[in-house]
Amino acid sequence: MGRLDGKVILLSAAAQGIGRATALAFAKEGAEVIATDIDETKLRELEGHPGIQVRVLDVTNKEQIENLAKEIKRIDVLCNIAGFVHHGTILDCEEKDWDFTMNINIRSMYLMIKTFLPKMLEQKSGNIINMSSVASSIKGAVNRCVYSTSKAAVIGLTKSIAADFVGKGIRCNCVCPGTVDTPSLQERIQASPNPEQALKDFLVRQKMGRLGNAEEIAHLFVYLASEESAYMTGNACIIDGGWSM
Ligand SMILES: NC(=O)c1ccc[n+]([C@@H]2O[C@H](COP(=O)([O-])OP(=O)(O)OC[C@H]3O[C@@H](n4cnc5c(N)ncnc54)[C@H](O)[C@@H]3O)[C@@H](O)[C@H]2O)c1
Repeated sequence: MGRLDGKVILLSAAAQGIGRATALAFAKEGAEVIATDIDETKLRELEGHPGIQVRVLDVTNKEQIENLAKEIKRIDVLCNIAGFVHHGTILDCEEKDWDFTMNINIRSMYLMIKTFLPKMLEQKSGNIINMSSVASSIKGAVNRCVYSTSKAAVIGLTKSIAADFVGKGIRCNCVCPGTVDTPSLQERIQASPNPEQALKDFLVRQKMGRLGNAEEIAHLFVYLASEESAYMTGNACIIDGGWSM
């Protein structure tokens, strides 16, 4: 018996990092997973995995989202994981950087939820899990101005959906990780002027003295997607190695 037997779960950003680990963890627990990403090549690596079907999807593209919704008959859990990290203070953030980040990190969730929520309401049940971060309204992080702003908005969106639809069988929570070792984190470290120092700076704020790994975050997604968390809604679930305590 899997913890997610029979659940249809749609998730974004499944080609790598936390999204990929989460897609695999969902499938292992018996879910029917629709794994999406904009990166077709990496996404195809999941093809043929039991319980997983893949679809190319740009979460900023309304038409693509609506076309996918026409294909999907039932959806039990929607996980909005896609996100982008802009490095810098407000002074480093040009309007195009602001718009690009807000578009991927928060406007995409507005589009996805607005498209799939009516199906959930018809079913009289649904579960939405959004990806936020500790770098948000929880913790001020240096050089994460627009990123933290967008992730704070994810918490606001999550609570708002939870409050509006709590009486209609809909739950909505978000996940707030600390620093997690994923391909994009490694790229950010390597792209910095002093990669060794950049890794040290990431580690120093993680009070456990290590980075998280994608599988650890996936475990939380499994819990939130399952009936084990049936009494939880409107939560910003922190999983951060002690960064914010
Ligand atoms: N890694 C961390 O330390 C960390 C910490 C807190 C929160 N997060 C959040 O977790 C999420 C995943 O981060 P990660 O580090 O695992 O991922 P990542 O950056 O390694 O991968 C992101 C994935 O998103 C996909 N993507 C990018 N733009 C897209 C679009 N427009 N449509 C669909 N897919 C798109 C990419 O192709 C990629 O597969 C992000 O929202 C990120 O902000 C990450």
